[in-house]
Amino acid sequence: MHSESGPLSVKASEAQAGIIERESAHTSGVYPKRPLAIVRGAGARVWDADGREYIDCVGGQGAANLGHAHPAIVRAVSEQASRLISCPEIFYNDQRALLLERLAAVAPSGLERAFLCNSGAEAAEAALKFARLSTGRSQVVAAMRGFHGRTMGALSATWARAYREPFEPLVPGFRHVPYNDLPAMQEAITRETAAVILEVVQGEGGVHPAEPGYLSGVQSMCEERGALLILDEIQTGYGRTGKMFACEHHGVRPDLMLVAKSMAGGLPMGACLIGPRVGLLPPMAHGSTFGGNPLTCAAALATLDAMSSDDLPGRAAELGSYLTGKLEGIRSPIVRQVRGLGLMVGIELKVKVTPVLQALQAAGVLALPAGSTVLRLLPPLVIEREDLDRVTEAIATALEARPAPRMETL
Ligand SMILES: Cc1ncc(COP(=O)(O)O)c(C=O)c1O
Repeated sequence: MHSESGPLSVKASEAQAGIIERESAHTSGVYPKRPLAIVRGAGARVWDADGREYIDCVGGQGAANLGHAHPAIVRAVSEQASRLISCPEIFYNDQRALLLERLAAVAPSGLERAFLCNSGAEAAEAALKFARLSTGRSQVVAAMRGFHGRTMGALSATWARAYREPFEPLVPGFRHVPYNDLPAMQEAITRETAAVILEVVQGEGGVHPAEPGYLSGVQSMCEERGALLILDEIQTGYGRTGKMFACEHHGVRPDLMLVAKSMAGGLPMGACLIGPRVGLLPPMAHGSTFGGNPLTCAAALATLDAMSSDDLPGRAAELGSYLTGKLEGIRSPIVRQVRGLGLMVGIELKVKVTPVLQALQAAGVLALPAGSTVLRLLPPLVIEREDLDRVTEAIATALEARPAPRMETL
C-alpha cells in the first residue's frame, strides 16, 4: 500500500499466521503490510483465511471497480485462457483489435490511438516518452501532492518527498506547482514545456478534486504554448467518480490520457490513450512484451460491457452522493472535511488515520489511507446501499473511540 505510515498491527489469527509467515519470509519488504490474509472475494466483500467477512472499501486500491469475481470477467478470462494467452504486438489479435476500437469509442473524443501496457506507472512512462518525442521538448510540469507511480519517469512526476528522495537523481526537467492554482501554472508552462501531467482528483495526495475551470484553464495554456496535457485517470477512471472518466466532469479532452487499475476487471493492464496533437509514433519508439496480450484484452472488453450494461458510472454518482451525505452527517470533533467525487471519497481527520483503519478492520471494514490523516474509501462500484450504511456506522463508531486532539496539535 502506498501511503500507509506504518503497519496496521491488528493481530492475525493462527489460521492466517502460516500464510503471513510464508509470504514474509521471501517478500521484497517494500510493502507495509497488514497482518491479514485475504483468500476470497465476491462483489464488494472479501474473506480472510479464517472465513471472516469484510466490506471491501480498499477495492484493490481502485482496481476492483467491478467487484470481486464478477461473472463476466470470470467467463471472459477462462474462455480466452483456453484459446490464446500470449500474442505480442508484432502480430495482430482479434481481442486487441476489438479493445482498441472500443477504447477509441468510449474515450473523450480525439483519443483514437492507444498504447497498451500492464500498469499505471507504465502508462505514465509511455506518455512522458510520447510527449518528448512529439514536442521535441523535455520539461514537464506536475502538481504538488500528485502521484503518478514509482518507476523513474513516473516518480519524477510524483510529488511526495518520501517516495522521491531515496532515488535521486531522478529524470531532469520536472517541476511541481500547487494544484488548483492557475497563476502558478501560467508561470510554469513555457515554450520548453513538453507536457503538464495532472490527476483529475488527486487520490494518493489526499482526495482533492480539481476545481471547476482549473483543468480547462490548463488545457488552454498548454495549447497556447505548444505543450501537451496528460491527464492521469488511473484512479479516477472507469466510472469511479460518477462518469466513465473524471475529465468528463470538466469538459476537458487531454492530449494523452492514462488509464490502468480497473480497466481489465482487476487484471494487470494499463493504457496511454493518444490524441491528435501527438504526432505519429514511429515503430520501435516504445514497447512491452505483455502489452495488449489477449487475456487482459478479453478482460478489458468484458469490463467495458459490464460498465455500460450495469451503468456503473451512474451507480457511482448516486451511491457516492448517498455515502458522502451520510458521512457528512457524522458529528465528530476529529473530522476536518469530507470530500471527493462519486465513490472516491476522503475524510480528512485532525488525527492520524492508522488507528481508525485498525478499528475499522476489527469491525469488518477495509479502508485506505491517503497520507497520514485522510481516510480514503474506494469501494467496488457494485457495492450495495446497505453495505455503505454499515461502513458509515463503523466509521462513526471508530471516530467516537478516538480522543479529540489537544489544541496544540490541531
Ligand atoms: C493516480 C495514479 N497514477 C499512477 C498510479 C500508479 O499505478 P501502478 O501502481 O499501477 O503503477 C497510481 C497508483 O496508485 C495512481 O493512483
